[in-house]
Amino acid sequence: MHSRTSRSRQLFERAVASLVEGGSSPSRGPANYGDNPLFIERGAGAHIWDADGNKYLDWMMAYGALPLGHAHPRIVEAIVEAAQGGTLFAAATGIEIEVAEMLRRMIPGAERVRFANTGTEAVMAAIRLARGFTGRPKFIKFEGHYHGWYDDFLVNAHPQPVASLGHPHDPVKIADSSGLNRRALEDTVVVPWNDLQAVERALEINRGQIAAILSEPVMANMGVIPPAPGYLAGLRRLATEHGALLILDETVTGFRIAPGGCQQHFGVAADLATFGKALGSGLPVAAITGRAEIMDGFAWGGVLHYGTQNASRIGLAAALASLRELQRDSGAAFTHLWRIGEQLVAGLNDAFRETGTRAIAQGIGPMLQVLFTDRRAISDYREFCAYVDRGKYRRLALALFEQGVYMSPSAALHSVSSLAHTEDDVRFTVDAVRKVLGDGGF
Ligand SMILES: Cc1ncc(COP(=O)(O)O)c(C=O)c1O
Repeated sequence: MHSRTSRSRQLFERAVASLVEGGSSPSRGPANYGDNPLFIERGAGAHIWDADGNKYLDWMMAYGALPLGHAHPRIVEAIVEAAQGGTLFAAATGIEIEVAEMLRRMIPGAERVRFANTGTEAVMAAIRLARGFTGRPKFIKFEGHYHGWYDDFLVNAHPQPVASLGHPHDPVKIADSSGLNRRALEDTVVVPWNDLQAVERALEINRGQIAAILSEPVMANMGVIPPAPGYLAGLRRLATEHGALLILDETVTGFRIAPGGCQQHFGVAADLATFGKALGSGLPVAAITGRAEIMDGFAWGGVLHYGTQNASRIGLAAALASLRELQRDSGAAFTHLWRIGEQLVAGLNDAFRETGTRAIAQGIGPMLQVLFTDRRAISDYREFCAYVDRGKYRRLALALFEQGVYMSPSAALHSVSSLAHTEDDVRFTVDAVRKVLGDGGF
């Protein structure tokens, strides 16, 4: 029994009688947290508290859904005010126009907007739209990219033993789940990322059949792996040459890397882009944006996309308040997110160097991950599978809990900075990491 977290332990024992693995997503249970998942009771700013009253500096931020931190006063106010007027009408509302107009101003190429609730739903709708628009059945997805839990996307999404991956010219398709529709494996063309020749080859082999190239613009589900210089522009060119759409899944990078996401940061124009997580600042709000000619395919009688909860008034009130905060003072928020993220990466790398730990902190601006590896950088899924010691990272993250620092214990995920994080928080975290590494075993 861990006495420090005994209340969490009791809750977990009670939870498993009612909830599979004690929760509502496997990532919250023993697969990541071992035999004693922490139960979180409240959050404020950059901190969260568990059921035993232990305080943690939170770098997970609900997997990136909280760009302003926990319980930001503007978000709380917006939610309360919206709730007082009714939470959901499942009818057209004015606030829907306001948020859509704001997204059109912020996001390059966002001529039209469609709201959904989760990243998974947004990408599902975008892929259906791409198939409907092009009349083609297949799409290209990259090894190690996660786009949600829908059948078509759960192919080669999670880290695997490197021996099972096959030749990079013809990756073995690996279903990440039982129960997938068999067509998912046939119609999802899997290709290594950061390798334009591989994409070109796949487009040639499947000539006339690829509706879309679907990519995370920064890999955020295999640690954090930025695109090689010119890679996203290369995807754009190849998609155009082959009559396929380019869909950038900005579920993680949206409202984090830049006001207009990676399209703005890297200067690349997608045909469609998908957003979730940070958009709703803690409420389930997602969006598909893109060229009018394509997006108008969602009109009645065309490509169907429904949702009772789409564009809930309460969710959009939170989104509007959050987007306003992020855009105040000419984008000072993004400067802060980048500064804190980069300071954390630098501080962690100093700590690894000084303690002789074979690990790197790797990221881009507000997104980062600690990777236990002998390599100087990890640049794709196969390198991650071959050279990253995930078990060591998990031990580090679990040991950091005891120092009051909360990072996701999954090496494949990542940490994010928020507006609530400070330079003191960076120092606190780096000191905690030094202490854990000093205790040995890494
Ligand atoms: C890049 C990416 N796309 C889509 C999703 C799915 O989003 P959601 O969990 O909101 O369904 C995720 C979730 O982590 C993601 O990282």
